[in-house]
Amino acid sequence: MKKFQASAPGKIILFGEHAVVYQRPAIAIPIHQVQATVTVEERTNDGQHGILLDAPQIKLQSMANILPLDHPMEILFRLLATAIEVETYPDVTLRIHSSIPLASGMGSGAAISVATIRALLGYLDKTLPIEQINALAYQIEKKYHGTPSGIDNTVITYEQPIFFIRGTPFLKLKSVQEFTLVIADSGIPSTTLEVVADVRKGWQEEPQVFEALFDQIGSIVLDARQIIENGPISSLGTLMNSNQSALRKLGVSSPRLDYLIDAAIFAGALGAKLSGGGRGGNIIALVEKNKADDVSLALQSAGARSTIITTETPDNPKA
Ligand code: MEV
Repeated sequence: MKKFQASAPGKIILFGEHAVVYQRPAIAIPIHQVQATVTVEERTNDGQHGILLDAPQIKLQSMANILPLDHPMEILFRLLATAIEVETYPDVTLRIHSSIPLASGMGSGAAISVATIRALLGYLDKTLPIEQINALAYQIEKKYHGTPSGIDNTVITYEQPIFFIRGTPFLKLKSVQEFTLVIADSGIPSTTLEVVADVRKGWQEEPQVFEALFDQIGSIVLDARQIIENGPISSLGTLMNSNQSALRKLGVSSPRLDYLIDAAIFAGALGAKLSGGGRGGNIIALVEKNKADDVSLALQSAGARSTIITTETPDNPKA
């Protein structure tokens, strides 16, 4: 039986979430320990035609051709078919499995889109330039997020640390020194769409206050880039704390996230902040490598559902 499997990583926003929607810079890195994996496999003899979607984690088990027209997966299949000039898809089962926690700010939606595009292209022996895969994933992100900046699909498609400004070509970021992060899942699901919409409401009501906070975050991101590229990496911790304080003022943190952040700092982290849309989802903490286990355990004791320890190295083979 013909079969093709592809995957895409999760991501974190290191600095600059939300402000990036308003044209300020942000930094994101892919997280390869978690992945969305999509398998496309030939399907025969069930009398139905086209793609059968099998994605129990997102409660989706359906023939693609009966999905509502505005369903993100239906949009993906339609846009991809146009891009690769395919009239109809063959009879296949498309299975989605993701180890990226859903609604957690780690890019599960974008990773599922990118892995699905890659898997269908591979199955159909087609190729598309990476820019076009990224552009397709961005179209789907609009369905999930409303007004996405494009940072999630970009970091996930290119699988590299990036310095990103909405609407401009991104820069690959190389760190001068390795650095270690502990990522902790609060276990509270959060919809980026809703949090982004709330920030927009706040910005419309108090434009000066929000613009000033976006500017503040933008300048933190520029400082962070300088430090990542030139060191000393330990100074990133203070910048993470400053970024978190601005995010709190934007109204996108929550008592639970603040509690986890405090627990990480108390256990010896150099700095910590929420990552992604906020309200729930993940926090990230910068740690000295030999403190990573302590901070991870402290976060679990403070109620984190799971933790990931990840080290960014200057010699990242994909960089
Ligand atoms: C979500 O990972 C990051 C946000 O800034 C939204 C976006 O950039 O589209 C909250």
